[in-house]
Amino acid sequence: MQGKVLGVVGSSAGGIEELRTGLVAPALERGWTVAVTLTPTAGQWLRTSGETTQLERLTGLPIRSEPRLPNDSRPHPPVDCYVVAPASANTVAKLALGISDNQALTQVNEAIGTLNLPVVVWPRVNAAHARHPAWERHIKALHDSGVRLIYGTEVWPLAEPRAGMPGRQYPWEAVLDEAGRALS
Ligand SMILES: Cc1cc2nc3c(=O)[nH]c(=O)nc-3n(C[C@H](O)[C@H](O)[C@H](O)COP(=O)(O)O)c2cc1C
Repeated sequence: MQGKVLGVVGSSAGGIEELRTGLVAPALERGWTVAVTLTPTAGQWLRTSGETTQLERLTGLPIRSEPRLPNDSRPHPPVDCYVVAPASANTVAKLALGISDNQALTQVNEAIGTLNLPVVVWPRVNAAHARHPAWERHIKALHDSGVRLIYGTEVWPLAEPRAGMPGRQYPWEAVLDEAGRALS
């Protein structure tokens, strides 16, 4: 993926603590340039844990979680493919409805409507999120608009809230493989 820019968008869900080691570092190893944008809550979490500083050092780009001022230049290069991972149930719902009330959603919603700009989404949800009456509509709306979902028992079996699932791993590799396929 030499010369291609991966827009990594993270929200405040489990797995965000592994964003650097599970997704960003492996993407850099595959040759992507990586530009990270976080939802405001995810930004707060990763600033508090010191991850933001480490991610900036690793990617060589600022981590965005706020919109720029109108006269500021764009802090990130143009993106060739977006991955939203982890995507909270909240972020998935807002993407399905086209709500763009933070910088991360603004970028991804525009990408969903942009021609030839692939978007990969890993909904990091539990069984309760998936039983919400609006959930299947949200998943269908994203699927029908061409979003590549990392979703289903094989990649992300759904656990009940606050119940672990021994052996389950975050599907970072599936996310990265899908991004690679999207551009091939
Ligand atoms: C410790 C913690 C873990 C959470 N994990 C998840 C999760 O795995 N999936 C999810 O959908 N929401 C999770 N949430 C709830 C979201 O953080 C919450 O819905 C938030 O408003 C999502 O905002 P965002 O999508 O803008 O990041 C978690 C919250 C906390 C405090």
